[in-house]
Amino acid sequence: MSHKRLLIPGPSESPIEVLQQQTRWLIGHRSSEYTALYTGIIEKLGKYFETQRHAATLTASGTIWMDITARNMVKGRALAGVCGAFSDRMYKTIQDAGKPVDALKVEPGMAIKPEMVMEALGKADYDTVAIVHNETATGVRNPIEDIGKAIKKEYPDIMFVVDTVSSAGGDYLVPEKLNADLMFMSTQKCFALPPGLSIALYSDAAVERARSIPGRGHYTDLIAIHDYYQKKQQNPTTPNVSLLFALDYQLDRMLKEGPKARYERHLAMADLTRKWAAKKMKMFPEPGYESITVSTIANTLGKDIGALNKELGKRGYQIANGYGDLKEKTFRIGHMGEWTPNEIKSLLWHIDDIWGE
Ligand SMILES: Cc1ncc(COP(=O)(O)O)c(C=O)c1O
Repeated sequence: MSHKRLLIPGPSESPIEVLQQQTRWLIGHRSSEYTALYTGIIEKLGKYFETQRHAATLTASGTIWMDITARNMVKGRALAGVCGAFSDRMYKTIQDAGKPVDALKVEPGMAIKPEMVMEALGKADYDTVAIVHNETATGVRNPIEDIGKAIKKEYPDIMFVVDTVSSAGGDYLVPEKLNADLMFMSTQKCFALPPGLSIALYSDAAVERARSIPGRGHYTDLIAIHDYYQKKQQNPTTPNVSLLFALDYQLDRMLKEGPKARYERHLAMADLTRKWAAKKMKMFPEPGYESITVSTIANTLGKDIGALNKELGKRGYQIANGYGDLKEKTFRIGHMGEWTPNEIKSLLWHIDDIWGE
């Protein structure tokens, strides 16, 4: 099978030596060997995110944490910021769980601002606010640090849940600085690992909130996950041990590079892409709120993105069309994980060459 460099917003490119970690002999997930592996991972996550928060991994993609939010965080009523398809999923997941939730909706391409959140919070009694950091559909990066600060200043008891699925591990994020009670991510994005595993960082207040809510589900019970780790330093159900081998290995690489250096590298890749896009078309997000891990470009020249991707495929590259309703109206270049500015320059050169520019 030919190898296409994945410059899509997930899964991103996984280095071969990281992939190879998954071919190690399996170990029992109730063994002391596993306990050593898993406690090591939890420790490394704490170091990478410079946090004292609890950490957990779950063998499921990031969406599971939307269900966990609905069932473990929302006691009364939630406010969900909706600025694209993925944040809309959070809103719908809370609704599907039968919990009262209001959407704070902005037009695609626009960001959710602290003053919008504060205005909405004044209208009803909310105990949970869920905001996506990096809306992968529109390429918008919401100002979650400012939002978190504003919420906690007036409403310290509100649970602030942040979806960092497509930014954590690339963007620089420290849960304490964000005032995030629950922050979750998937391995197939900036962690440059295969899909199938999610990671969450959560506060003591989140544990306390979850304990006070009945009907948390079984696989989605944060307390079961938390208490099992506290007692046995393992997981309540069978984890994907192979993927955890790869995560452990990749965390060492990420720590070696460092979270700030990873941020700078992602910013440099975003900067190159934005400058290239500005010369011919236009970035889709409102200025000042562009993602650093995925650039969504407004297809103002009406280029055939499907055809472009076919040609890129012949040259060993793959980018992404717009998501959902934004297909062909926008296209997306994922510059997340292990990519470098040089690789981005090379991709952009190939696009120009295909377009004869
Ligand atoms: C911002 C955001 N949230 C949630 C998800 C869902 O994550 P997963 O596909 O890992 O369940 C995605 C997936 O692309 C995403 O980009």
